[in-house]
Amino acid sequence: MKGKFITFEGIDGSGKSTQLRLVEQYLAAAGHDVVSTLEPGGTPLGRQLRSVFLETKETISPRAELLLFAADRAQHVELLIKPSLAAGKIVISDRYADATVAYQGAGRGFDPDTIAQIIDIATDGLMPDLTLFFDITVETALERMNARHMSGSEANRMDGETAEFYERVRDAYLVVAAREPERVCVINAEGTIDEIFEKTVAVLSERLN
Ligand code: ADP
Ligand code: TYD
Repeated sequence: MKGKFITFEGIDGSGKSTQLRLVEQYLAAAGHDVVSTLEPGGTPLGRQLRSVFLETKETISPRAELLLFAADRAQHVELLIKPSLAAGKIVISDRYADATVAYQGAGRGFDPDTIAQIIDIATDGLMPDLTLFFDITVETALERMNARHMSGSEANRMDGETAEFYERVRDAYLVVAAREPERVCVINAEGTIDEIFEKTVAVLSERLN
């Protein structure tokens, strides 16, 4: 039996982690066997990479950054995602390969061929059955990130990036969605948490049945 692989994408502050938690509860309540995970940090090795990544005071070169995300992903695919899918589970992941296209490709400026090669090595060709792209304007994202900081949450390495950086990242996600409409579904994520969850459930029912 093969499970389903669903990824949640969006610029920082888009509310995808909030929606992922709601979807996890919703699917579990409907009797599905759900594995909820994230990148970076979905495995013990990945969690070590994530804390190195977040805590180091050293400047991380863009190539090292690209490869750290790839190493995290390779371990995640091999040790968690593939075995869970093989066991028939629904795997929901907060970020996956599209984040590398958007952040390292469009954000940092790596060329598309390099990005595609690195993703292929890291994923071993495994792409999601469905990707939900939670789309908000950069303005809304920055407001939410500021609110998150005020509440004392974990800092994120990308939090210091400029609005232009996030515009490029958002545009790249929209390009992927336009190129692969069967896999990627754009959800307007500007409303309340409940409104967005309602749209998310509608997409899940439509795409997964
Ligand atoms: P992401 O994982 O995309 O960075 P989060 O789910 O962590 O986003 O949400 C970022 C911040 O915005 C959090 O403080 C969260 O409580 C808040 N938030 C999430 N969804 C909404 C929403 N629809 N409207 C307003 N604030 C939201
Ligand atoms: P995280 O705290 O998980 O942020 P969020 O909740 O917004 O996802 O930090 C992950 C950061 O790493 C986020 O800014 C996006 C970035 N990232 C990449 O640049 N490339 C990648 O391939 C992945 C998976 C994440």
